This record gives sequence, C-alpha cells and structure tokens, in this order.
Amino acid sequence: MTEYPIKLYENEEFQRCAGHALRPGGLDLTRKALDISGLAAGSRVLDIGCGCGKTVEYLGRVPGMLALGIDISPEMPALARRLNGAQQIVVGDAGRLPYADRSMDGILCECVYNLLEDRSRALAEMDRVLRPGGRLMVSDLYLREKRGEFPGLPLATCINGIAARETVAGEIGAAGWEMVAWQDETPVYKQFVAGLIMTYGSMAAFWESLVGSCQKACAMQDSLKNVRIGYYLSVWGKRPGRPGAANGEDRR
Ligand SMILES: C[S@@+](CC[C@H](N)C(=O)[O-])C[C@H]1O[C@@H](n2cnc3c(N)ncnc32)[C@H](O)[C@@H]1O
Repeated sequence: MTEYPIKLYENEEFQRCAGHALRPGGLDLTRKALDISGLAAGSRVLDIGCGCGKTVEYLGRVPGMLALGIDISPEMPALARRLNGAQQIVVGDAGRLPYADRSMDGILCECVYNLLEDRSRALAEMDRVLRPGGRLMVSDLYLREKRGEFPGLPLATCINGIAARETVAGEIGAAGWEMVAWQDETPVYKQFVAGLIMTYGSMAAFWESLVGSCQKACAMQDSLKNVRIGYYLSVWGKRPGRPGAANGEDRR
C-alpha cells in the first residue's frame, strides 16, 4: 500500500479553498445524485469517505433523511463537527464497514473511489450494507485521454487513481452492480481547477504550496500534460437476480 506523507484532502488551506466540500461539484452534484437515485424521505444514507462532513450535514437537513458518515482519517470526525456541525461520523475503512447487512438505503462515495486501495473489497462491503433496491452513488475523476506516461503525483490525491470510464464501469459492474446512470460532469472539475488557479495564481503554485519545492511542482504539472482528466457522476443498483439483489425488488 502506498503511504504518502502528504494527503491533499488533509491540507487545511486546500480544505478552506474548497469550501470544506473536498471535491468538484460540491453539494449541487450531491443533490443531482440524490435526484437520480430517487431515494425517498426516511432514507438512511451512508457517506463513505465523508471528509469534513459537508454532505453528511446537508443530508441531515433533508427532511426525514438519516445521514451517517465514515472516514479513514482519524481527524475527520472532529473536523466535521467543528466545521460543519456534522455529528454522525465515525473513523473506519470502506473495506470494513461497521454496519449491519442491508441496513442502508443509499451510499454516497464522493471523490473517494480513486483513493481506495482495494476497490473490490470496498464494493463488496457496500453491497453487503446496502438493502436490495438501494442506490450506490459514485463520483470521481476519470481519464478522458492519455497522451503519454503518467507516473502519478507524489501525494495522496484522487488524480492518482484515475482510470478510463470503461475501466471504472467494468470494475463496479464486475462487483455485481448495474449502472443506473453515468453522467460526464467535467465542467465542475474545470470550475474547481479554475478556483484553485484564482486562489494560488497557477496550478504549479498550488502544487508548490503542498510539496514545498518549485522544481517538484513544475515536474508534477508537466506530467499532468499527459492526461486529460474529467469528472463523472454515476448511480448503481444491485444487479437483479444476484443473491442479495432480490429480483424485482431492485427497481423503484
Ligand atoms: C477527496 S476527499 C473527499 C471527502 C468528501 N467525500 C468530500 O467530498 O468532501 C477523500 C476522503 O476519503 C477518505 N478515504 C480515503 N480512503 C478511505 C477508505 N479506505 N475508507 C474510508 N475513507 C477513505 C479520506 O480520508 C478523505 O477524507
């Protein structure tokens, strides 16, 4: 497992700049995901990799919705309470969820999928805790085009886990999920990057604020020229006919 000394999403300056929703699209994309998923009032929704708890706090304000969050970073629950007033957050790993079988109506995974070391294990855990007919909502960066070598960046960021749409859809599909929706949301990624440039002056200056060296930052920015990055929002249900998917029950 790659342990990076620097984790982008744990950087306070980045958190502040991102408005404590540590992903492109913010709550607008969360609302879109919920609309597509059609989750009813009274739904119990788990936000995996909830970060500063922006989504958990938002979901908690949706009438009748019960929101829970889990994050592997030990500092996130306290941060989420302090910054967003989000309470129901525990420390834990997506690959070992501390919840009962079929206990959730919805699962959100916002800008977390690319960070998961063992995606098939995490997907199996999501499958276990989601009830038949429930919805899994995944959004993250994806690879739109590769023009040359991209060795990855020397810090923990969703950029390192990018893969093409076919690869991501293949992985999630192979874990027994059926795609309900896949939307390209690249404009929100561009907006996010533009916000960083407006704040730091350039992307190289942003990377330098994290890695502390101008040379390293320029090399990072240079390697990024080899990939065209996009952003997606996807919604999944358990494939009918599988154990746990309960034929017919799987559709709303
Ligand atoms: C880019 S941040 C996104 C946070 C939040 N979803 C948001 O959109 O504001 C990624 C988060 O995923 C968490 N994370 C990474 N690997 C994880 C895992 N295996 N299990 C649970 N959380 C994880 C990180 O600690 C971090 O808070």
